[in-house]
Amino acid sequence: MTVSVFPDRSALMLAAAERVTQLAERCIRERGRFDWALAGGKTPEALYRLLAGPPLAARIDWTCVHFFWSDERCVPPEHADSNYRMARESLLDRVAPPRGNVHRLRGELPPPLAASRYEQELSALAAPATLPRLDLILLGMGADGHTASLFPGSAALTESKRWVVATSIAGRDVARLTFTLPLLNAAANVLFLVAGADKARALAQVSTPDDPERLPAHRVQPVSGELAWLVDSEAAVLL
Ligand code: 6PG
Repeated sequence: MTVSVFPDRSALMLAAAERVTQLAERCIRERGRFDWALAGGKTPEALYRLLAGPPLAARIDWTCVHFFWSDERCVPPEHADSNYRMARESLLDRVAPPRGNVHRLRGELPPPLAASRYEQELSALAAPATLPRLDLILLGMGADGHTASLFPGSAALTESKRWVVATSIAGRDVARLTFTLPLLNAAANVLFLVAGADKARALAQVSTPDDPERLPAHRVQPVSGELAWLVDSEAAVLL
């Protein structure tokens, strides 16, 4: 796994924003659209804000960008914990893509129904009997090595057929919806964005795992896509 280390969070976000912009420009130039699954949590918000403002926003034709989410909390879209809400406030409200381009994971629905509906929505991207190949899946990583809502020991990690599943996390009261490893690993590009000293131990473990099955983030290895880790120096301190 190639890890790019940046001196601080600001440099990390600028580099990530440039990388996403170049990928979007290329995909839109080559096939007229950019299918992008956003990450949740707190880290990517600064990236979204950079992309929504000058000079980067003007480089992307947002009418060609289709937004997806690699996971969501099972809450309504305006809930403080909603990954959709964070992206709407930091990016979507400012770049105003066509409504039909925003493919929200419906956290307000019964989770199994939300998961199966999302799979139907994703199937429009794929030829019959093939996996959807998103142009970019942006991911974060938790201090325990989780990514999307795939947590260590979760049954969702063993899912080999479904693309999106509902999952509950021990000790957390809100259920989640998440992409599974088959869908994550079908992506054309996966970009991990990791910052902060609290991620240093997990990042060191992911890069040299003694038990690779244990760390979900390590198991994201695109079958025929590019994998990049962009991290700040605090997260990289143990590498
Ligand atoms: C979520 C994310 C999750 C996140 C990590 C890191 O819904 O929370 O999908 O996988 O990326 O937990 O979160 P932070 O960026 O807040 O550290």
